[in-house]
Amino acid sequence: MANAQKAIGVLTSGGDAPGMNAVVRSVVRSALNRNMRVLGIKRGYSGLLHKDVMEMNLRSVSDTLQRGGTVLYTARCPEFCDDAGVEKGRQACTELGIDGLVVIGGDGSFRGARDLSLKGIPCIGIPATIDNDIASSNYTIGFDTALNTVMEMVDKLRDTSQSHDRCSLVEVMGRHCGDIALYAGIACGAVAILVPEVPFTIDAIVEKMNRTLGTGKKHFIIVVAEGVTNSNGIGSVHDIAREIQARTGVESRATVLGHVQRGGVPTARERVLASEMGYHAVELLEKGIGNRVVVSRENQIVDLDILEALNMKRIFNQHLYDVADAISI
Ligand code: ADP
Ligand code: F6P
Repeated sequence: MANAQKAIGVLTSGGDAPGMNAVVRSVVRSALNRNMRVLGIKRGYSGLLHKDVMEMNLRSVSDTLQRGGTVLYTARCPEFCDDAGVEKGRQACTELGIDGLVVIGGDGSFRGARDLSLKGIPCIGIPATIDNDIASSNYTIGFDTALNTVMEMVDKLRDTSQSHDRCSLVEVMGRHCGDIALYAGIACGAVAILVPEVPFTIDAIVEKMNRTLGTGKKHFIIVVAEGVTNSNGIGSVHDIAREIQARTGVESRATVLGHVQRGGVPTARERVLASEMGYHAVELLEKGIGNRVVVSRENQIVDLDILEALNMKRIFNQHLYDVADAISI
């Protein structure tokens, strides 16, 4: 009976990611199992500020495990980025009787969770973003599904590139992080992978293509992270395609995959991790512990102080990049 009055909130924030529903489901069922009440907060911090909530029961999350997107909806809420917004959020929690909050999202969402924790509402962050850009976790929920989506799309592009002896440039998401490009690039046999973490020149790509043309290669895949085209004045993926065509003589086409990468049925890996992380978050909140993120490190689910997690530096997998470069010849 000790927990009978305890209520927790759960929200999804930032860009959606396949597997978010599996986290929500795990949080709801783990908490109900422990006699806690659960309020589903709609549209991230925006829903908290507007007290747009729904009481969750065991059946509220039925048939959601296998669905992409988020049944709680998500949003980016600029109002929450300053102290007045966070204070409004604290008041909303108090008025709604929320004793703790699970925040499912990326680094931006975790900053909000930390600010709210410092105001006395224990918050637990769970990493969910397709970008895999959270330094404290080896892996973020949504990344594996996005990778598989990209792989499926690039395999289709390879068919048509092969038929026409063309070069296909594919721009993938990832904001400032090259992981989707790197892992999809190696999975799809890309001749070049352009990521923001590694400097590159068009000269080097042209040289590699010319070298492989000399050994009989006739079609090419180049994966380009959006962080590259967005940041360094190199132009769009279409501009890169035009330059490569002009300098190699290989007819080139560019494809921007876009938001298709954010949807789809979450893979088994997402579902298992999401279920375990949601359970762990509830265990912490039951003990009144907040200001933590639940992350995956060395195949273990552990929790860390949010600020400590936010201050960690991401390490790019240079070895994998070098492997890709060495074998795509
Ligand atoms: P993600 O969580 O995927 O990194 P965003 O960076 O868009 O996505 O952040 C999601 C939301 O988290 C923002 O819209 C805002 O409501 C909240 N947020 C982001 N940064 C901060 C911050 N510095 N302080 C408080 N809340 C923040
Ligand atoms: O963070 C996830 C992500 O899909 C990034 O890869 C991308 O840069 C961004 O969100 C796109 O945001 P929006 O859905 O607002 O266009």
